[in-house]
Amino acid sequence: MPEQSPAVTYANYLKLEELLALQQPRSSGPEHDEMLFIIIHQVYELWFKELLHELDRAKALLEKDESHRAQHTLKRILTILKVMVAQLDILETMTPLEFLSFRQRLEAASGFQSDQFRQVEFVLGLKSEGAIQRFPEGGRARTALERRLHESTLWDAFLQYLSREGYRPGDLQLTLINIYKNDPKNAELCERLVDLDEGIQEWRYRHMKMVERTIGARPGTGGSAGAAYLRETVGRPPIFPDLWAIRSQL
Ligand code: HEM
Repeated sequence: MPEQSPAVTYANYLKLEELLALQQPRSSGPEHDEMLFIIIHQVYELWFKELLHELDRAKALLEKDESHRAQHTLKRILTILKVMVAQLDILETMTPLEFLSFRQRLEAASGFQSDQFRQVEFVLGLKSEGAIQRFPEGGRARTALERRLHESTLWDAFLQYLSREGYRPGDLQLTLINIYKNDPKNAELCERLVDLDEGIQEWRYRHMKMVERTIGARPGTGGSAGAAYLRETVGRPPIFPDLWAIRSQL
């Protein structure tokens, strides 16, 4: 007789025992707020994982010309992004002194080293070889980033989809203006991409303000100038510049 596997329960399906053992404060005591700090970062990493899962899906649907379903997936991505931005409110209940009580325990660790955040940037077209070198060769993070460096981006998938919709390569911005004026279905898709772009910018801005109020002008644990570096990332060009450039001509 084959051995019977145990019945599925809430706890074993979700691997609750493992999950709940993963929050391990480094401060002795431990400092009360370090639990929040760990949990919120872990939750963000899970949302990054889900975002990547959905971004890959949106790309695959565009590649199959299933634009309606791609839009549906983009809507889900945007809803997740909104939740991610809103979660920063929780961290803002932590005062600078509460954070300083355990900050030195983080040593050089920083969200700057989140490979999944870089993966999201890569899928969206913000690729950088430099970002890859920071991760150990052969490891999960490095392998995933190397793969995404060579993979097509969401924008590539969108442009190829447009060409199959009959839009011939030419002046891209003129094509986009034409879509906005005469092709409501694809104009909607463009709008979802603008939403996505704005959502990422919103996250960068809110994270930067949260950092400013928590550590002021101190440098970051990751070795950057801190809020000054983050302000520079907020000021960078948008992800889909063509969709912004045409707006004064619509
Ligand atoms: C008290 C809370 C936080 C503080 C003080 C903080 C501070 C910083 C600072 C100073 C940087 C710049 C790099 C460095 O020198 O370290 C940074 C980058 C970053 N942080 Fe945070 N952070 C906080 C919470 C979070 C959370 C909850 C996340 C979610 C995952 C996060 C994700 C990131 C990411 C992805 C970057 C890289 C941004 C980029 O390079 O564009 N941070 N953070």
